[in-house]
Amino acid sequence: MDKIKIAVAKGDGIGPEVMDAVLRIFEAAQVPLEYSFVDMGKSFYDKGFSTGMTPEAKETVESLGILFKGPMETPKGKGVKSINVTARKTWSTYANRRHFKSLTGVDTVFSKAAIPIDLTIVRENIEGTYGGIEHMLTQDVALCRRFITRPGSLQVHRFAFEMAKKEGFKKVTCAHKANIMKLTDGLFLETFYEVAKEYPEIESNDIIVDDLAMKLVSKPQTFEVVVLTNLQGDIMSDLCAGLVGGLGFAPSANIGDNISIFEAVHGTAPDIMGKNIANPTALLLSGFMMLRYLGLMNQANAIENALLVTLEEGNHTGDFGDKSKPSLNTTEFSDLIIRNLGRVPAAGEARKAAAAVSSYKIPSLPATQKMMFTESRKPEAVIGVDLFFESQKTAAEIAPMLQKHERDGVKLIMISNRGTQVWPTGSVFTECVDQYRARFEVKEGSSNLSEMMKLAESAGGDFFVSSVELLRSFDGKPAYSLAQGQ
Ligand code: NAI
Repeated sequence: MDKIKIAVAKGDGIGPEVMDAVLRIFEAAQVPLEYSFVDMGKSFYDKGFSTGMTPEAKETVESLGILFKGPMETPKGKGVKSINVTARKTWSTYANRRHFKSLTGVDTVFSKAAIPIDLTIVRENIEGTYGGIEHMLTQDVALCRRFITRPGSLQVHRFAFEMAKKEGFKKVTCAHKANIMKLTDGLFLETFYEVAKEYPEIESNDIIVDDLAMKLVSKPQTFEVVVLTNLQGDIMSDLCAGLVGGLGFAPSANIGDNISIFEAVHGTAPDIMGKNIANPTALLLSGFMMLRYLGLMNQANAIENALLVTLEEGNHTGDFGDKSKPSLNTTEFSDLIIRNLGRVPAAGEARKAAAAVSSYKIPSLPATQKMMFTESRKPEAVIGVDLFFESQKTAAEIAPMLQKHERDGVKLIMISNRGTQVWPTGSVFTECVDQYRARFEVKEGSSNLSEMMKLAESAGGDFFVSSVELLRSFDGKPAYSLAQGQ
C-alpha cells in the first residue's frame, strides 16, 4: 500500500511527548503514513515568525492537506494571535468535530451509573467571537464583534448532516441562543432548518444552549450530534470532555474542504511538561479520526482495540483511573498499547472492520480565494444610523445636543447605554458607562451612506464618535435589533 504523506507538528509543552508516543504506536501498527515535520509553535514566534509558523510549514500543510498537530502555546502579552485559531481559520477548517465516548476502564459518574455516553459535537470553527475583532471604544469600554454568516452556517450544518448520514446517526440537534441574539444565532438556527430539510431521514431539533448545558449533565444519552456556534461549541465540548473522563479523552478534527487538522482538545499542560506523565489517549483518539478520514479503517480499528484492551485491564496514566493501581508514565502506557495490538476488548465494544471510505484528496491550489454569498438579492435600503460615542454626561443632557444634528427627515429615535434604552424613556436605575449609542432613523423612504456620514461628522463636532453602523432594511424589513426596552 502506498504511504500517505501528512504534515506533523509536535507542538509545545507536552506536545512532543504525546506526539512521539502516538507515532510510535502508529509505527508498530504499520500505519502507511509518511511524515513531513513542520515548524510551528511558540518558539517560532520567538524566532520572529508573527504567525507562529515558517513559510515552509505553511507551504507543506497547504500542499498535503492534512496536519496532525500537538498543542501549541501562544505567547502572552505580545499581541500575537493564537496559532491554533489562526491555522483553523486561515485554512478554512469550518467544522470542528469532537467525539465523546465512554471507555471501559475510565470511570466517571455516568459509567458508574451504567449510562453510556456517545455524542459528537460539531462546532463552527471560523466565525463568532473567534473572529477576534475587538476594539476599545473608550478607555472603559471594549467591544467584540461577533460575525455569524449564512454561507459559514450552511457549511457547518451541511457537514453535520452529511456526517450523520454517512455514519448512521439518527438525530442532529442545533444548540443556540436565538431567543436573545435574534439576528446572529437566529441566522444560525434558520440555516440549520434549511439544511435539515435536505435530510428528511434524519431527525432534527433545536435547544437553547443553557438548557443543553443542564441536559448534558442530567441526560447526556439523549443527544447524538449537537451543532453549535464557535464559542458555545468550545464551552459545551469541554463540558462533554468532563462527562467521559476529562481532557485526556477528548479528540478533535478540524475539517475543511481542502485542509483538515487533527489534534487533541487539551492544551500544552505546562504543569506536567517534560515529566513523561501526560496521557497520550486524546491525541491517539484524534489520530483515529485522522486515519478514518484517510480511509485507513483497519489500522484505526486495530489500534483502537488495543487501546480499549489496555484501558479495560485497568492501566492508566496519572490523570485518571484507579489510584490503588500504580500509574504508568507516557512511555509505559504507549508500550502497553503496542503490546496489546492484535487483541480485542472483552468488556467494551470491539471496533469492527469497516469499508474503507476516504474523505481525503490532495488539495489542488485554487487560483483565487473562494467567494461565498447568496445569489438572490432582496431589495435593500439605508434607513438610519447608529452612532457609538463617548460621553460622561447623562442621556437627558445628551439628547438635545444630538437633536441639533438631526437632518431633514432623519430623527433621533433613542439613546442606549450597554444595549439598554435610556432615552426617550428608561429607568433612573439603569447604570451607565461613558459610551452611548444614538439611533437616528429616516422617517420616510430611505437615505444613503453619504447622508449618514454627514450626520456622524456633524455629531462628531460635539462628541467623540468611535463607531458608525448603518441601519439597513432587506425586503422592507429592518435588519437590526431593537435596544432592550425600546
Ligand atoms: P491544558 O489543557 O493545557 O491543561 C489543563 C489541565 O489539564 C492541566 O492541569 C493539565 O495538566 C491537564 N492536562 C491537559 N492535557 C493532559 C494530558 N494529555 N494528560 C494529563 N493531563 C493533561 O489547558 P491550559 O492550562 O488552559 O492551557 C495551557 C496552554 O495550552 C495555553 O498556552 C493555551 O493557550 C494552550 N492551549 C492550546 C490548545 C491547542 O493547541 N489546541 C488548546 C488549549 C490550550
